[in-house]
Amino acid sequence: MKQVLRLASLGRGFTGANPLVGCVVIKNDTLIGSGYHAYFGGAHAEVMAISKIKESDLADSTVYCNLEPCTSWPEKKTPPCAELLLNKKIKRIVIAHQDPRPQINGRSIERLRNNGIQVDVGLLSSQAAWMNRSYLKWIATGIPYVRLKFAQSLDGKLHPTPLTRKQISGPESQTLVQHLRARSQAIIIGGNTERIDSPKLTVRLEKFLTNPHFVQPKRLVLSNSKIKLQSPTELGVWLKNLGEQGISSVLVEAGPFWQQEFLSQNLFDETLAIISPKFLGPGLGIVLKNEHSEGNFSSFDYHTWKRLGADIVLQGIKLKGNPCLQELLNI
Ligand SMILES: NC(=O)c1ccc[n+]([C@@H]2O[C@H](COP(=O)([O-])OP(=O)(O)OC[C@H]3O[C@@H](n4cnc5c(N)ncnc54)[C@H](OP(=O)(O)O)[C@@H]3O)[C@@H](O)[C@H]2O)c1
Repeated sequence: MKQVLRLASLGRGFTGANPLVGCVVIKNDTLIGSGYHAYFGGAHAEVMAISKIKESDLADSTVYCNLEPCTSWPEKKTPPCAELLLNKKIKRIVIAHQDPRPQINGRSIERLRNNGIQVDVGLLSSQAAWMNRSYLKWIATGIPYVRLKFAQSLDGKLHPTPLTRKQISGPESQTLVQHLRARSQAIIIGGNTERIDSPKLTVRLEKFLTNPHFVQPKRLVLSNSKIKLQSPTELGVWLKNLGEQGISSVLVEAGPFWQQEFLSQNLFDETLAIISPKFLGPGLGIVLKNEHSEGNFSSFDYHTWKRLGADIVLQGIKLKGNPCLQELLNI
């Protein structure tokens, strides 16, 4: 299953709203096939792993997959993997965890078992769920996984006053931001940030640009002249609407105005604070708006830090808002 997760991660940045999925086929203790879901709309991992194996070799083999194979539903684009596994006379299937998508949600497991295939669920399930945490949150709640990314000075400022363009983080942190963008389907900024920084908000790493299946994240600008909300308190409704449009994860690269709205309204799953050894002097930082949000801010379920060049990146993740990750809290 470790090999499956390694394979699945190769799809990171290319699968859009789909989960990262890997698959290996084992017979007589030998790996006879492997594959992964490489891009949105592309073949599923099971198909990639199985397609090059002779039918006779597949019989009585064991298939390992991090996610429950898909089943069919009316508007689905690709053929159901559960049927493929049934037709190929696989003996045993080992799955890390069930796919909570309402159309699947255990149905494939049941169908495979009812047809005499041994199905074992739960191997490395926490690691697998962690890897697909944005997909799992979106499927369970209909709301995209929200990552807040901001760079701040040692004196806690995100920008100087009067408003001017000021690069706070170093080049190593900017490479991290490129990877964060690649794994997000949309990037959110505010009108001031657009006017002052004119950020491209694109992914420019060669690995992504040279892959014809890579899709740049959507650019969403919250501004009275672009995406206008009746009030910032409508942020939650707007996010739900993005989820309904098929956006499973967003990266917020706005200034303090919107960062504190996401934080104060408890509309985030993860924060990445890039702290740079600089003092900005007069400027603005994030100010939480109420007691409730201070409570939330101190209640990350997981946090870690990393040194990137001269910067320190503090990552905090909430698991409680993600019903599919509850079990991680018990580890
Ligand atoms: N350190 C960092 O990580 C970081 C990141 C991003 C930006 N920055 C800096 O932060 C500064 C800008 O930050 P900021 O907090 O002032 O601005 P912001 O993140 O751009 O958000 C404020 C903007 O939101 C828009 N807005 C307000 N109410 C709205 C509503 N109801 N519906 C839709 N849009 C609404 C307004 O845009 P309009 O005025 O267009 O209507 C307003 O200018 C810049 O100096 C930038 O360089 C720093």
